[in-house]
Amino acid sequence: MHEPSAPFANAYDDQLRAASYAALAFPGTYHLAFRDLPELLGRPAPGARALDFGCGAGRSTRFLADLGFRAEGADLSEAMLTEARARDPRGVYLRVPDGDLSALAGNRYHRILSAFTFDNVRTGSKAALFRQLAELLEPEGRLLNLVSSEELYRMEWAFFSTAAFPGNAAPAPGAAVFTVMKDVPDARPVEDIFCPEADYLDLYRQAGLVRVLAHRPLGRPGEPFAWVNELQVAPWRIDVLRRA
Ligand SMILES: C[S@@+](CC[C@H](N)C(=O)[O-])C[C@H]1O[C@@H](n2cnc3c(N)ncnc32)[C@H](O)[C@@H]1O
Repeated sequence: MHEPSAPFANAYDDQLRAASYAALAFPGTYHLAFRDLPELLGRPAPGARALDFGCGAGRSTRFLADLGFRAEGADLSEAMLTEARARDPRGVYLRVPDGDLSALAGNRYHRILSAFTFDNVRTGSKAALFRQLAELLEPEGRLLNLVSSEELYRMEWAFFSTAAFPGNAAPAPGAAVFTVMKDVPDARPVEDIFCPEADYLDLYRQAGLVRVLAHRPLGRPGEPFAWVNELQVAPWRIDVLRRA
């Protein structure tokens, strides 16, 4: 298959993709991204406020709200925010420009979740965003950064295929990497920006964040999914971060 070579554009700033994404729940491999989040987030204290940074069509924001957080979503894609607001008319969904969270300045959150967001954030914006997210945390708050594992891009999965993208095998940091979702109407490749774990650790340090846990969720026998590599290799990594 042809590997797209145009300059990076946010793959999610697109109405067709936003509509397709909005219809997703937690199928297959995605189940492993969300299965352990309730435990990692902890039970919210009454009134605990959570920011869903890169909320997309609101799947992860509604997940936080269902756990009992006062959840707010922020995203740069108007197409995704339109889907989020349609599904949750009473929710709070805010558009933020790339790399600039000044619209949220002064807010403080007990939990911040970024679910797959940094897979798409441009390399040049990542450091500024982590710095600003750190400032938005309550002193005892936690930022949960859920990202694709390095292995995601070079293996096959219950819900994703990467076989058509040989360039994914050994990408340089900042290179475009591609996946396709299986069994969705919009089967166009999704372009991510490769960021190795070591680079994330540098970014966290620069932002004054300390990683307290790196969770690598594996599939379990007996789960109702046709796992491919998920029983042996974690498709995702969830970094739990606090302010230094
Ligand atoms: C893969 S989607 C995940 C959406 C949602 N968190 C979920 O789990 O369903 C990634 C989202 O990150 C958003 N995004 C990418 N770069 C961003 C940035 N610099 N600031 C805010 N949102 C961003 C995209 O627009 C997209 O909606």
